[in-house]
Amino acid sequence: MKTIRILINGCNGKMGQEVAKKARVMEGIEVLGGIDQSDSGDNFFPVYTDLNNIKELPDVIVDFSVPVASMKVLDFAIEKKVPIVVATTGFSEEELDKIRKAGEKIPVFQSYNMSYSVSVMRNICSELAKLLDGTDIEIVETHHRRKVDSPSGTALMLAESINEALDNKLHYEYNRHDKREKRSPDEIGIHSIRGGTEAGTHSVIYFGEDESMEIKHTVTSRGVFAEGALKAAKFLINQDAGVYNMKDMV
Ligand SMILES: NC(=O)c1ccc[n+]([C@@H]2O[C@H](COP(=O)([O-])OP(=O)(O)OC[C@H]3O[C@@H](n4cnc5c(N)ncnc54)[C@H](O)[C@@H]3O)[C@@H](O)[C@H]2O)c1
Repeated sequence: MKTIRILINGCNGKMGQEVAKKARVMEGIEVLGGIDQSDSGDNFFPVYTDLNNIKELPDVIVDFSVPVASMKVLDFAIEKKVPIVVATTGFSEEELDKIRKAGEKIPVFQSYNMSYSVSVMRNICSELAKLLDGTDIEIVETHHRRKVDSPSGTALMLAESINEALDNKLHYEYNRHDKREKRSPDEIGIHSIRGGTEAGTHSVIYFGEDESMEIKHTVTSRGVFAEGALKAAKFLINQDAGVYNMKDMV
């Protein structure tokens, strides 16, 4: 098997470090370098602060950073024709459109959640929504205090799959604070909790009459996402231009 050489965008961040740690022990993966705002940190690979200084091209770029940095490295990936795994979250519609357009030129893997179990949860939640049509569906997500985007990309992904399964008849309700009215049957409530070092928990709750059902996924280590992103890198290397996600890989 050919060794895949990766470049980690956001390499000094929590996830970038986790990817580097996993890559060290995963067969068939080598870290060629990293990109971040500063080259501080105790890394076993070269860190670039300027994309123009990268001399040796990687086989795949793995991006866990911030949207503005993702957009920069996406331009670089298109120019150099390098496949890219985009794992960053919190994109605007315009940025998402740019990611979709990049897929016309290079292989792009994008998922708000790199965990295999979450893609299974997504399927289960869509099926349950159909089976339990008429229940009040609420999504609750919990993340560490440093997370800047809310709701999480995963919560939105779950809401979208559920809504699709129900012919998009629901709207999303993020904030009941300003309202003095009963819950509408046409909504999915989405709630964010922030605190501590929590790596990520997502619950989808189906409330019926005198009963409820909850599907819950909890991550106790970010290693889960790092491993998923590296598997995505291995998957991407054999693909044509296009935008891929967990469904394609699973
Ligand atoms: N898809 C998934 O499964 C998944 C899982 C966990 C986290 N995430 C997402 O990954 C992203 C990173 O998460 P994190 O916990 O590592 O955050 P973090 O804040 O620890 O790391 C972000 C890194 O990006 C770097 N950065 C900022 N601006 C930059 C620039 N202009 N150029 C290069 N690097 C820059 C920062 O210096 C930092 O090292 C977030 O969007 C988070 O939501 C996705």
